[in-house]
Parts: sequence; C-alpha cells; structure tokens
Amino acid sequence: MMLENQKDTETLRQYDFMEKARGYVKKKSEELGRPLTFCVTTFGCQMNARDSEKLRGILEKIGYVEAEEEKADFVIYNTCTVRENANTRVYGRLGQLKPRKKKNPHMMIGLCGCMMQEPEVVEKLKKSYHFIDIIFGTHNIFKFAELIVTRFESERMVIDIWKDTDMIVEDLPNERKYFFKSGVNIMFGCNNFCSYCIVPYVRGRERSRKPEAIIREIERLVADGVVEVMLLGQNVNSYGKTLDTPMTFAQLLREIEKIKGLERIRFMTSHPKDLSDELIEVMGQSKKICKHLHLPVQSGSSRILKEMNRRYTKEQYLTLVEKIRKAVPDISLTTDIIVGFPGETEEDFQETLDIVRKVRYDSAFTFIYSKRTGTPAAVMEDQVPEDVIKDRFDRLLSEVQTIASEVCSVHEGTAQTVLVESVSDHDSSMVTGRLSNNLLVHFEGSQELIGQLVDVHLTECKGFYYLGSLAD
Ligand code: 5AD
Ligand code: SF4
Repeated sequence: MMLENQKDTETLRQYDFMEKARGYVKKKSEELGRPLTFCVTTFGCQMNARDSEKLRGILEKIGYVEAEEEKADFVIYNTCTVRENANTRVYGRLGQLKPRKKKNPHMMIGLCGCMMQEPEVVEKLKKSYHFIDIIFGTHNIFKFAELIVTRFESERMVIDIWKDTDMIVEDLPNERKYFFKSGVNIMFGCNNFCSYCIVPYVRGRERSRKPEAIIREIERLVADGVVEVMLLGQNVNSYGKTLDTPMTFAQLLREIEKIKGLERIRFMTSHPKDLSDELIEVMGQSKKICKHLHLPVQSGSSRILKEMNRRYTKEQYLTLVEKIRKAVPDISLTTDIIVGFPGETEEDFQETLDIVRKVRYDSAFTFIYSKRTGTPAAVMEDQVPEDVIKDRFDRLLSEVQTIASEVCSVHEGTAQTVLVESVSDHDSSMVTGRLSNNLLVHFEGSQELIGQLVDVHLTECKGFYYLGSLAD
C-alpha cells in the first residue's frame, strides 16, 4: 500500500515537472516566433515503440509539436542494444547530428533506451559526444519531464541512469501512433538470462503490472477508439509471478477478454518453457485472442539450446507446437532463430533446418549471432567464423521463405475478418488490413475504413501478403 501511494505521488510530481517544462518551452518558442518541434526515433522492439509513445505523450503535453527529424528542435533516439549493429546505427546517426547542432545551438538531443544501460556506452558518449543534452535509461523513462526541466535550468549534459528498479509509475500521458490499436505493457524486465542475451542486464528483473492497472488502461483505450491491443512483455508467459497476489497470464487474458468493445487481443513474446496448458486452453476458447503465436525457438539443436540456457529441448518444443496446433488448429506460428551461436556445428545447424521444416513457420526472424559483452556466451570458446555463419544464414533464410510462402497460400480463396490499418503504401486507392494470423492484405477501399474490422476475400497470395477484395 505504502509503495502504491509513493507511485501516485510520483505521477503527480511528474505532472508538476510537465507544467514547469511547458513554461520553458513556451518562453523559447516565443523567442523563436514559432512552436518548438520534436522527433522521436525508435530502434528495436515493440517495447521500445510503446516507450516512445510515452515520450511523445510527455513532449506534446509540454508544448512541443511533432516534426520530421531534419526540422526538429529536439531529437530523441530511443535505442536498442540487443545486437551490435543496433549500436553502430545510433553512433552513425549521432555523427550526422553533430554539424546540425553546431549550426543550431538551441537544438536538443536526447538518448534513452537499452543502449544507455551499458556503462561503456555512456562513458563513450560523455567522452566523445559532448553535444548530447539528455541521457537516461529504461528504468526512469517516467522522469523524462523532470530531466527536461533539469536541462533547461542547468545548460549542461544531464545523465540519469538507474541500474534497476521495482517502481512502476502509472497514468502518465502517451501519444499513440494508431488510434485503433495499441501496445499495453503488462510486465517489464526478464529473469531468463539466455546466455547470448543482454536484455536481462539492460531491462532489469522481471516485474508485472497489477491486473487492475492493466484492465483500467485497456478500458480507457477502448473508450478512446482502440479495438486491438498487443500485450507486451519480454516473457508474457511468466506474467504475475511476482505480484503480491499472484495471477497467471491465462487468468489475465480471461479478464481482458471480458472488456466490452475490445475486439482483438495479441501478445508477445512467449517463452516456450513457460507456455502453460492453461494458456493453450484459453487460446482455444477465446473469441478475441488472435490466431497467432510468436514462439521463439532460437535453435533446433538440443545441445545448443542447453548452451543458450533456453531450458527446453527440440523434442519438447515440437511437442508443445503439436499441443497448440491441436487446440487452435488454424493458428499461425512465427519464431526467432539465431545462427552462429558459439560452438554451433553444421550438424547443429541441420537440426535448426529440420525444426523449421517440421514446424513450418508462417514467418521467422533470423538473426546472426551477435556477441554482447557481459553475457556468458561472449566468452564461450569456438566463436563461429563469419563466412560460415553467413552461409548458414543464407540457407536458413531461403528455407524459411520457401515454407512461409507455401503456408501463406493455404488461405487463398477464403474470406477473413481484417482490421484495416492504413492506406496501402503502393497504391492510394487501396487499403491494408491485418488478418487475425498477422498477415497483411491489400484491397480496394477508402481511408474511412481505417480502424474498422471488415470481411475480405483473399483472392491472391503474393508470398508474404495477399491481394483481396471487400466482401459484401
Ligand atoms: N545475437 C543475435 N540475436 C539475438 N537475439 C537476442 N540476443 C541476440 C544476440 N546476442 C534475438 C533473439 C530474440 C530476439 C528478440 O533477438 O532471437 O528472440
Ligand atoms: Fe533475452 Fe531470453 Fe529474456 Fe528473451 S527470454 S529477453 S531472449 S534473456
């Protein structure tokens, strides 16, 4: 109870900072004779995308107006560090910002997200990137307004990184990208410590939001026009274990299902070791949970899975897939696969190809293993040579793609309900809708359809998407 009151106090404190920041923004924009603008760029996963909506919410609340990066007075990079190339991209972008900031000294640059939780990164930024204004991490994003105020008042680089936290600050503003769908955090952090993964180090220990807070947020979103939610967590299947009154993810889903006006429920990511029979049962019975499950396998070799600390074998994974398909026959399965984990032999790789052929995924994200300093895998012997990895990666990708286009075509000729999301990128007389199984269909229609659930005939499969026509 004590903690709850503290959190409420923190929310109010932050609203005070927003008020104060608003004053500074107003003053500056009067000086310039125009509104101040911002641009938030997101790297990485859906969790970061949701965090960026929170940053946008705060920025709009304090009087900034959204603009393209080239024109923005305040540029923010919400970073990712899951693979090395994500870091490289951020340094590249910062290099490009430097001359711009030199020309416009009033410009502000903010950096946050997973990369900032790495001490070496912050050291490097402090030493060689003096032109950055605000640096904060994943645990104190709720303090954004406070940090902006500090920056306005100190004229110096503001750095605030927390190692970990058990705080969850509710009810702060957020600005959604889509009016009809939204991500909803249900938990933060990860306790799994897969041996290749940096996430547990940068996102901290697992902690769940209270079910009441989640339900309240979704009810508000629905009242505001949202019909689809994506429940977000690094490992949603272990939701609720750390709550004062523990609750399972399946129980949470049952509660969310009851929310009137909510039409679709998605969630990610599921860890195979924690996916319960209870959850499979709920998915089989639900009218709202989408027919899609993202179930990262990472490797098909039980030996490598053990080295990865995934805590399941190839056989256990396949049994799980069988169970799920039995309970939800038309479910679409997608996955993540890492190629080139230390010690991976051709034989191990063949096991990965084999599991891909057995499961027949609707799609798979394939990644080249990236060495992350501080993780157990980084110091493992037998790091696989680059050319060997590249060759395996190409073979895997081609297998994944062949299977995906075969799997996709089975729905050709059927009619399905889709949520219309946007005007089609390719043709402005068409709109793009998402099927329950997460595939996209482009069909003739006007933009008034955006946000609506409509039935569409899937006339032609184009490999990874469909062309269709509105059913009458
Ligand atoms: N190298 C390559 N891929 C990684 N992932 C996580 N850590 C690494 C790494 N060090 C992948 C996993 C995970 C996805 C989000 O990113 O496949 O499921
Ligand atoms: Fe990383 Fe494993 Fe946690 Fe996923 S479950 S975030 S791969 S440690």
